[in-house]
Amino acid sequence: MLTTRLTERLGIAHPVISAPMANAAGGGLAAAVSRAGGLGFIGGGYGDPEWIANEFSKVGNQPVGCGFITWVLAEDSRPLDETLERSPAAIFLSFGDPAPYADRIKKSGAQFICQVQTLKDARHAIDVGADIIVAQGAEAGGHGESRGTVTLVPEVADMIAKVKPETLLIAAGGIGDGRGLAASLMLGADGVLVGTRFWASLEAQVHANMHEAAIAASGDDTLRTSVLDVIRKLDWAERYSVRVLKNRFSDRWHEHTDELKMADPQVAEGWAAAWATGDTDIANSIVGEVTGLIFDIKPAAEILETMVSEATDIISNSFRQNVKQG
Ligand SMILES: Cc1cc2nc3c(=O)[nH]c(=O)nc-3n(C[C@H](O)[C@H](O)[C@H](O)COP(=O)(O)O)c2cc1C
Repeated sequence: MLTTRLTERLGIAHPVISAPMANAAGGGLAAAVSRAGGLGFIGGGYGDPEWIANEFSKVGNQPVGCGFITWVLAEDSRPLDETLERSPAAIFLSFGDPAPYADRIKKSGAQFICQVQTLKDARHAIDVGADIIVAQGAEAGGHGESRGTVTLVPEVADMIAKVKPETLLIAAGGIGDGRGLAASLMLGADGVLVGTRFWASLEAQVHANMHEAAIAASGDDTLRTSVLDVIRKLDWAERYSVRVLKNRFSDRWHEHTDELKMADPQVAEGWAAAWATGDTDIANSIVGEVTGLIFDIKPAAEILETMVSEATDIISNSFRQNVKQG
């Protein structure tokens, strides 16, 4: 049992939350994580109201949170308002300025969680009233930036201790087993956010071929790139790239994104078709470096229980050793 400020704040058994992964993290995964003692999140992503409503209908009476890509809300924030009416346990904003949404989230009673990639953005999130900061390192699957988890987390922990100690901190990026969880707590986090490891679960909405490709891969086989955003015509700011599994498509286009922007529309159609059919030569699996530590697709509850029991052993063993040396 690992009790931290996060388990106490959220009223959960384990200091683990699942990432709000667009498309992959639906109501089934979110509910499974919450049922197992963490807090599960629906990946509201680009804010498709129908998809979000459908996923909420799957959670039953489990408490879950919902995430949004912040810059998308600037175009239309109705999906956030509709989600707040469903009384989520938390709202998770990432990639953009959270300030315009802070008041309504806080008034709703949901925990206000901001994922950040730099110290500067962590400070801004604290200033606008985030209850919980997620410090995301570049090892992470999906969109992110360039800082490493192992330095970003303690820097943010030190800043929080100085400016607003009641703000909680969650580490993200590269955490997929008990070692990652134990290390994150040692770095000063109150808990962890797990994306890729839960993406590789039975409940995640992921094509079986993509799961297979991720299991066969090591961390070396991943890449931060913008090819996915270019091919999907998504208007992401240049500072963000997305970590994916390399494949024939990224080998061809990663260093030629200007050419990709001008490519025949058939290239984009081919990528979308490959995504739908699970052709992993063309469509990239969205995973982090931790894919190299994943060897099976398991139920989310089993993933969570193993992670927590490994971390508990690591922490109690190292404590015993320290006492012996003491
Ligand atoms: C498939 C996938 C989709 C993701 N989609 C989102 C998203 O829609 N919104 C978001 O804030 N983060 C998203 N992320 C990033 C996660 O929030 C988190 O930072 C990351 O998964 C943590 O690193 P890890 O993958 O090594 O566990 C995604 C990650 C993955 C793997």
